[in-house]
Amino acid sequence: MRLFSILIFLFAATNLFAEQQEKAIQIHTDKLSMVFSVREDGKVYFQYFGDKISSDLAVFSERQKNPYYGESAEPELLVAYGGRNAFEPALRLVHSDGALTTDLIYVSDVNVIVDDNVNETIIRFKDKIYPVFVDIHFKVYQKENIICEHIVIQNEGENEVVIEKMASSSFTIHSSSYYLTHFSGAWAAEMQRYEEKLTPGIKNIETKKGIRTTQSESPSFLLSLNGTANENYGEVYAGSLAWSGNYQLSFELDECGVLHVLGGMNPFASAWHLAKGESISTPEMVLTYSSEGIGQISRNYHDWCRKYSLQHGDQIRPIVLNSWEGAYFSFNEETITGMIDNASEMGIEMFVLDDGWFGNKYPRNSDKAGLGDWQPNVTKLPRGINYLAKYAVDKGLKFGIWIEPEMVNPDSELAKKHPEWIVKSGDREILKIRNQWMLDLSNPEVQDFVVETFDNVMALSPYISYVKWDANRHVTGVGSDYLSPDRQSHFWIAYIKGLYSAYDRIRAKYPETTIQLCSSGGGRLDFGALSYHDEFWPSDNTNPLNRIFIQYGTNLFFPAIATASHVSTSPNHQTGMVTPLKFRFDVAMSGRLGMELQPKDITGNDRVFATKAIETYKTIRPLVQFGDLYRLISPYQEGGWTSLMYVNKQKSQAVFFAYSTEFHERTKFFECRLNGLDPSKRYKITELNVVGGRKYFWGDNKTFSGEELMRKGVELDIRSCYDSAVLLLTEI
Ligand code: DGJ
Repeated sequence: MRLFSILIFLFAATNLFAEQQEKAIQIHTDKLSMVFSVREDGKVYFQYFGDKISSDLAVFSERQKNPYYGESAEPELLVAYGGRNAFEPALRLVHSDGALTTDLIYVSDVNVIVDDNVNETIIRFKDKIYPVFVDIHFKVYQKENIICEHIVIQNEGENEVVIEKMASSSFTIHSSSYYLTHFSGAWAAEMQRYEEKLTPGIKNIETKKGIRTTQSESPSFLLSLNGTANENYGEVYAGSLAWSGNYQLSFELDECGVLHVLGGMNPFASAWHLAKGESISTPEMVLTYSSEGIGQISRNYHDWCRKYSLQHGDQIRPIVLNSWEGAYFSFNEETITGMIDNASEMGIEMFVLDDGWFGNKYPRNSDKAGLGDWQPNVTKLPRGINYLAKYAVDKGLKFGIWIEPEMVNPDSELAKKHPEWIVKSGDREILKIRNQWMLDLSNPEVQDFVVETFDNVMALSPYISYVKWDANRHVTGVGSDYLSPDRQSHFWIAYIKGLYSAYDRIRAKYPETTIQLCSSGGGRLDFGALSYHDEFWPSDNTNPLNRIFIQYGTNLFFPAIATASHVSTSPNHQTGMVTPLKFRFDVAMSGRLGMELQPKDITGNDRVFATKAIETYKTIRPLVQFGDLYRLISPYQEGGWTSLMYVNKQKSQAVFFAYSTEFHERTKFFECRLNGLDPSKRYKITELNVVGGRKYFWGDNKTFSGEELMRKGVELDIRSCYDSAVLLLTEI
């Protein structure tokens, strides 16, 4: 593809000074522009990122500058440490003679046309003295209004260069005030939203955990100008780093009120030695902007993700029953075939066998043993995996299986056989988290082992079509037996590059397999890892109330098609909360529906309701999985209601969800304006998931104009805590 691109590229490299004294480099999508100016002295300045401007307007270099900045401090496109700018640098190199400074000068720019929708601008720099080249890449997705930025550093000198820091992207904006939305959380409470006004100084969002990097913070952010972020109006910038290792986002508000936004791999303890002739590429920062609020930001990310990042983003997802909460480690063949029987009766389409199926010398009967020994446990499953997988397929279901190939229990055959594969710091004690250690993916032998594990598991049955890939701890006691003493700081980057290389090999061999991204729930939710997967498990917390918040956060960036959202039992295993089955379905159906329970325990009217809801989901899932998301009421908003809807691209159908998350006294009444419809169309509204004839919408089966629904809205009688409603809108 790359070669092809190069063959058809539009070469725009210019000898700058032969033609003019200053020039603008422009990048455009259908709705956005970025502009940089190249000055006579070879310095490149960031000029503009925002709504699209016409090309002839796109030269800003002549304009009045903030005189305070003067010659020395005007923010450059890529701030290298030791140059003119004293801002937080994007790049910090130590040259072979010990020099700490880098001074980058423009060399050229090219624009490579990839296809009708995608092109890439590459701006090349060279240090003024040392033979080090830096290329900044901007890959532009026009219709989706996404710009992916990364840099490549190349050492053309005779001696080694040490990279102390290499951000993926940097841009500057000037406004009166900036509101940063970032995310924090914990196990069972991932992607909780925080919004704050930035004040002078530097605000960093980062992780040093190496693995499970998004369990607490996240490398995704929103930046709203002149007020807190709103769904439908206001200027918002957004970024999401496609990297599963340590990251750092920096927001530096300088003395002139200018904000410098940097994002990339965390430089912490990560010096990278670049030998003669070597180069290194940073991960991509996926950027977008909207002057119409965060709703459009999410729709940009979702469209782009389905088309360019996610595996099989154009294919409908099956409804899954995952065995974890229904069986945990305690099952045998009969337990599983019983679950499959019930799943089949209820219309479920995929059965996934979670943890606990492997290990013989050290059976995996709890999280204390067996990780690393990927052979079916003969006591639990005497006829092996193929028997179960075929059983599922014969019952009309697909079959999936759980693995955690990066990890090992000390009590396993693997740990005894390969102590040199375990992440450890010399002779220090190796700390356990969830009773397990990590394998050292910076070691190519371990990468081979991970690929072989996947191969061997797939070879257990030709009927396996889904793999859930888990990773249940983060890095402590960093160190690698494989890396040489002077390369120990490579571990953080080399681990993730090793993981991606294993993913690449697996994907090349198993292009059709569905792979779920899981890391103790949503511990690895970034566009880097997600690009190898079909979906993600946002959280081990399946309690619908908590899921409303978690999925609000994840769906700001990642689409519903990839959001595994499972109905579990009540009282909920993580929170102890009791909720109606309808509420649990109504929440789960706003993502990729699945179940996470023992299905034989759903009986009587509940069984009838659940079976019908599964059937109903099949009719609305094209809307949920491919539609445009419009958030109507945020769970963070006062009032105790949440609402969202998905509208198809033709605006001929939509599905609307509303949840009551608090008790509302009699005086309070739910009213909400819809969004994303065609005002000139008429829609018939049908209430879905109705239990025992109790309807929450007065207008069931009536028709309304799109205009009325968007201006006046709908009223629902959802007052009690955990009341909910789902409405289908169909153009008539
Ligand atoms: C953590 C995952 O998030 C759960 O869904 C489950 O797969 C367990 N690990 C199994 O150990």
